[in-house]
Amino acid sequence: MNILNLIFIFCSSLVYILLYNVNRIINYPLINLCALEKCPFCYGTDLCDEFENGKFEFKISSFENVIANLFSVKNVYYAIYKNRSVVLKKLAHDYELDELDQFIHENYVGSRISNKDILEILYPKGDLIGNNYVVENFHLCTHKTAENFFQQIKWYEDPNEVIEQVWYTIKVNVEPLLLKILSSKVFPIPKYLGACGRIIVEENRGQMLSNFYYADWQIRTNISVQLLKAAEVFTEKHDLFRFYLTDISPDNIAVDANMTITFVDLENIIITNHLASGVQSIHHSVDMESDDGFAFSPNEICSHSLSDHNYYAICKLLLSESAPWPMVKGGFLHSPPVGILLQFPKLFELVELCVHPNAKINRFDAAKEITDILEKALQFLNT
Ligand SMILES: Nc1ncnc2c1ncn2[C@@H]1O[C@H](COP(=O)(O)OP(=O)(O)O)[C@@H](O)[C@H]1O
Ligand SMILES: [Mg+2]
Repeated sequence: MNILNLIFIFCSSLVYILLYNVNRIINYPLINLCALEKCPFCYGTDLCDEFENGKFEFKISSFENVIANLFSVKNVYYAIYKNRSVVLKKLAHDYELDELDQFIHENYVGSRISNKDILEILYPKGDLIGNNYVVENFHLCTHKTAENFFQQIKWYEDPNEVIEQVWYTIKVNVEPLLLKILSSKVFPIPKYLGACGRIIVEENRGQMLSNFYYADWQIRTNISVQLLKAAEVFTEKHDLFRFYLTDISPDNIAVDANMTITFVDLENIIITNHLASGVQSIHHSVDMESDDGFAFSPNEICSHSLSDHNYYAICKLLLSESAPWPMVKGGFLHSPPVGILLQFPKLFELVELCVHPNAKINRFDAAKEITDILEKALQFLNT
């Protein structure tokens, strides 16, 4: 057998495997992903009829979607629902869900969850902190913040929601709760469409920011303006709370066909009230020069009425020339047109000042100046 025959057999096998798997996912009933039998320890049931009636189909319009749906390393699936592109999320790895199931089995089967149980996981006291099952990535700063948050999520007074669902969601990943709380248009987050069992559905907001690393400078500038504005929106624009995102990365930000950004992973977050302590004090994140990493202290953030954390994260992790590799090597604004450097010589100095502010300028002001310059740069490039 010559080499051409071997190549032919190899390619045919690949095509066969691919077609077999495409066929498999086309015919896969998506209701099977929902593990409905686990309810009421699940995210909800409002979309179950739609799943049962086959209204959701795996998206197979691109090779990437097929691969993502076949292997789904992150337990995220791409689907079509009412002609709309959506993502189905299990919100955790299977082993994490299994561990929590074991915990539920040992502690809660047969007994109802109470309001007290919910408050305890929202604001764990001393001895609970060592408990593995306390939500780690989600931090409500004070007891008052927890009570306010609790008031916002008491959907289970709605007969379609049960208290176990709210409890379970907090335990696994608060993302759907935040998507509901932040559902006004101001916040750059995906629209939450509902849940069935252990699956939530949200709109597909596009490709990851990391895919835009080589996009035109103009496109990256437009995106950077939105990133800096988002830092302000999450910090300032909710009536009750400030939201500090603690897992900002190019994989957790999506960009749609109109180049509009969305924060798609809201699992890691610190929430404070606007006037957490009654004392006006501003927290400035300390940049550890010696350390390439990104460190923050929830306690520090929580003990001030305002923190520059979101600005710090955007500048340090995405925009700065020294953004840690492999996140955004050289910063998202790398390789500017020469005309921009001549016209706006302070731009990159300000980006670095946003990471390491000094006595003359704080991060809030640096971010505002960068935004102004980037907006002017966009006008300049358009003329
Ligand atoms: N609403 C969405 N729109 C488009 N892509 C999404 C959306 N939500 C998640 N993704 C994709 O799925 C990946 C994993 O989802 P994410 O919520 O970040 O889970 P994890 O907590 O495992 O990081 C993201 O990096 C992104 O590529
Ligand atoms: Mg993520």
